[in-house]
Amino acid sequence: MDARTPQPATRPRNPLFRTKSVEQSIQDTEEPEHALRKSLSALDLTVFGVGVIIGTGIFVLTGQVARSYAGPAVALSFVTAGVVCALAALCYAEFASTVPVAGSAYTFSYASIGELPAWIIGWDLILELALGCAVVAVGWSGYVRSLLDTIGWRLPRPLTGISSGGAFDLLAFLLVLVLTGVLVAGMKLSARVTSVIVAIKVTVVLIVIVAGAFYINGDNYTPFLPTARPASGTSSGFGAPLIQLVSGFRPTTFGVWGIFTAAAVVFFAFIGFDIVATAAEETRHPARDVPLGILGSLAVCTGLYVAVSVVVTGMQKYSQLSVDAPLSDAFKADHAPVWSGVISFGAAVGLTSVCMILLLGQSRVFFAMSRDGLLPRFFSQVHPRFGTPYRATFLLGLVVAVVAGFTSIAELSELVNIGTLFAFVVVAVGVVILRRVRPDLPRSFRTPWVPVIPALSVCASLWLMLNLPAETWVRFAIWMVIGFALYFLYGQRRSRLGLRG
Ligand code: ALA
Repeated sequence: MDARTPQPATRPRNPLFRTKSVEQSIQDTEEPEHALRKSLSALDLTVFGVGVIIGTGIFVLTGQVARSYAGPAVALSFVTAGVVCALAALCYAEFASTVPVAGSAYTFSYASIGELPAWIIGWDLILELALGCAVVAVGWSGYVRSLLDTIGWRLPRPLTGISSGGAFDLLAFLLVLVLTGVLVAGMKLSARVTSVIVAIKVTVVLIVIVAGAFYINGDNYTPFLPTARPASGTSSGFGAPLIQLVSGFRPTTFGVWGIFTAAAVVFFAFIGFDIVATAAEETRHPARDVPLGILGSLAVCTGLYVAVSVVVTGMQKYSQLSVDAPLSDAFKADHAPVWSGVISFGAAVGLTSVCMILLLGQSRVFFAMSRDGLLPRFFSQVHPRFGTPYRATFLLGLVVAVVAGFTSIAELSELVNIGTLFAFVVVAVGVVILRRVRPDLPRSFRTPWVPVIPALSVCASLWLMLNLPAETWVRFAIWMVIGFALYFLYGQRRSRLGLRG
């Protein structure tokens, strides 16, 4: 049966679980004033994927987690987080090839589980993408300031951002505004800018692996997995992983638990492959290219992360790795300042593309929610010349720029992780539901071993969520409560699906 033959939306008695048919979702994308331009290929998508995936996670968090949680075994944490993402990617790929419509997990759940769950996911994606973008912008600003320092330029302290003792992060704020302009000017331009940046970033990562291998000292790998010790400071009390608190043991760092705690943190390094799915509607052959883009970019990044973490923990004792710029500082510690400078430069360039694509994904989710009437329809008009959702992009760019200006990185990245893992759970459940309710839909990519793989994906994502601090769970709950309130006060009444009756 042809997926485009209009089918009535499924309307169970409870409006909270009304679903938008897949055909309706695809039809909506064809209304001229709401249609995005279809210009991307599988290679563009993979470049987008790698562009957003490699970023603060590998450039900044590797050092932090090796020092605090896992030692050289941080490589195993990357493998663990990579496996969790691969399971989720198999589910995302099926969904994206069945429902090639802007909005990612939001659209998928609207087509399978219902309106309220879809809203929850959309709200949750705001946490992942907008906040993630702000976090990366602040990280970028730190690297740029450190580069400026080396050539003797210093920003006045009040303009250096909260984490460095300032008040307003001017560089992070400006970065987000400039990227917003690039995105409004069109996908193709964004893809071109991204390709150059991705090439620089991947080169720098390869430099770390190849040049760094010559500085490895085997002694640094002993102990590979430092023995567990009682948690202290921010890793204890409410800051300890939820699973450790509820299991009744005294919270620890390092040891086997440490590998999982570190995995829940470095998971941030993988965030982004799901964003490839948000560009499905702008892809020329979504059925084939989206799964290729998602799985391809994930595979490339996992390999690079494991190699980088093995090399860096071999170059410098894990307890001495730097917290702000572990990759370049490991070269400094080994008296290789030129490599160190090149890596700092590459990191600053590389974080730019991460920030841009997070912003891109966010504007597309917002666009899809607004097109469905769950957010004001005003934001779903596309630009007459550029074919981009310019109103949503401007609004979000401005909000993210302000948040980036006033935010410090630390806890926010964990909040981003919990939001993303929650979206993984919903997508995995959605795959199983959509197979049951619409077995007839053409699926050019099918998740293998359904329902086993989706079930494993749910368990793996929940496991990582449990390894995040209890306080992160509380913040996440507060965000979701605000989301529920908005839905019942606005979205439920204005829903286009509801109004169509
Ligand atoms: N994966 C992206 C990063 O590490 C979000 O910065």
